[in-house]
Amino acid sequence: MGKEDLKTEFTKLYHEQPTRCYFSPGRINLIGEHTDYNGGHVFPCAISLGIYGAVSPRTDQQFNFYSTSFPDLGIIKVNLDHLDYVKQDSWVNYAKGMMLFLREKGAWFKHGLNVFLNGNIPDGAGLSSSAALEMMIGMIMKDQFNLAVDRLELVKLGVKTENDFIGVNSGIMDQFAVAMSKKDQAILLDTANLAYQMVPLKLNDNVIVIMNTNKRRELSDSKYNERRQECEDGLKALQTKLQIHTLGELDDQTLDEYSYLLPSEVLLKRCRHAVWENQRTLRAEQALQAGNLAEFGRLMNASHVSLANDYEVTGKELDTLVHTAWRQASVLGARMTGAGFGGCAIALVNKEKVNSFQTKVSQEYEQTIGYQPSFYLAETADGTKVIE
Ligand code: GLA
Repeated sequence: MGKEDLKTEFTKLYHEQPTRCYFSPGRINLIGEHTDYNGGHVFPCAISLGIYGAVSPRTDQQFNFYSTSFPDLGIIKVNLDHLDYVKQDSWVNYAKGMMLFLREKGAWFKHGLNVFLNGNIPDGAGLSSSAALEMMIGMIMKDQFNLAVDRLELVKLGVKTENDFIGVNSGIMDQFAVAMSKKDQAILLDTANLAYQMVPLKLNDNVIVIMNTNKRRELSDSKYNERRQECEDGLKALQTKLQIHTLGELDDQTLDEYSYLLPSEVLLKRCRHAVWENQRTLRAEQALQAGNLAEFGRLMNASHVSLANDYEVTGKELDTLVHTAWRQASVLGARMTGAGFGGCAIALVNKEKVNSFQTKVSQEYEQTIGYQPSFYLAETADGTKVIE
C-alpha cells in the first residue's frame, strides 16, 4: 500500500483525511544474537519492510486504533482512564503500554486520535514487528502532542512496554535498531553503555537475502525468558570469583579459566555462546570495515553454529534453511536472525545469483520440511519517521 492508498483507506474508515503519515521499519540483526541482555554488542539495521501509519486528531478524548493486519478486530477504542492490559485488545496493548509509560513521564495527550496502520512485515517472523509498532506509537504521540522526549527515551519506553506490559524480557536491540537506524548503515551498539557507531553497509557485489522459514515462533516467549534466566544463573555462578557485572565483560580465555564455577553443561553452553558471540560481533564489524566480506560471512556461519549447538534456539526449519544456503556457491555466509525458534534467517548472496539461489534453497527446503520458505531482498531504511 503506497501513501496515497494509505490516505484513501484511512478516509474510508474514518470519513475524514489524515493529517500526518509515518513509517516505522522492521529490523534484521547481522550478527550479535542473544547478547543484548548480556551487556554485549549487537549489529542490526532497519529494513524497508515495516509499518505505515496515518493519523488525524479528534476533538474528544478518544483514541481509535485500526490495523489492516487485524481487520476482524475492527476499530479498537482506547480510553485514557483505562490504559491497562486487556487480552482481547490484542496488538493495541503495545499502544496502550507506550501511552501509559509516556504519561508516567509527564506526557499530556490534549485530545484523542484516529490511527490507521498498514504493515508489510511478516507477522511472527522475528523481524521485530512489535518494536516497529511500539516506535510507531511513540513517534505518533511525540509528533502529535509535541512531547519533549527524544528517540532514546522512546526506545527505553518500548523496552519497558515489552518487559513490564507484555511480559517478554527482551533486550534493547530491536527498539534501538528500529528508532535509530539510518539507510545504508548498520549500528554497532554496545548494550552495556548504549555507545554506538554507524557503520556503512558496503556489501560490494552482494545483497542480503532474508529467508523466512514460514514457521511461526511458537512458544518463543517462554523459551526466550528461559535463556535469559540461564544466562543470569551462569553470571551469578561466575560472580562468586569474578568481579563482573555482565557476561559481555568476559573474553573467551577468562570464561574458559573460570568455567569450573558453572554448575552444569547447559549453563556452560549458554555462557560460552554469550561470550564468543560478543567477540565475534566485534570481529565481524572489523571485517566489514576492512571490506573482508568472506571473513564476515564465515563469522555469520559461526554465529549460527553457536546458536544451534550452544544456545539451542534454532530448530529443524532454521537449520535446514541455513545449511542449504551454506551449500550454494553464491553464498558468503548465512545465519538465523532475531530470537530464533523459527522466524527468519539471512544470507549474504552474490547479486547476480539471487534467483538461482532462491530456487535451489526453496526446492531443498521444501523436500525436507514439506512447505516452501519465503524470500525478501533486504533494503536498509531510516528509523521511524514522519513521511511527507
Ligand atoms: C529478540 C529480542 C532482542 C534480542 C534478540 C536476540 O529479538 O527482542 O532484544 O535479544 O531476540 O538477539
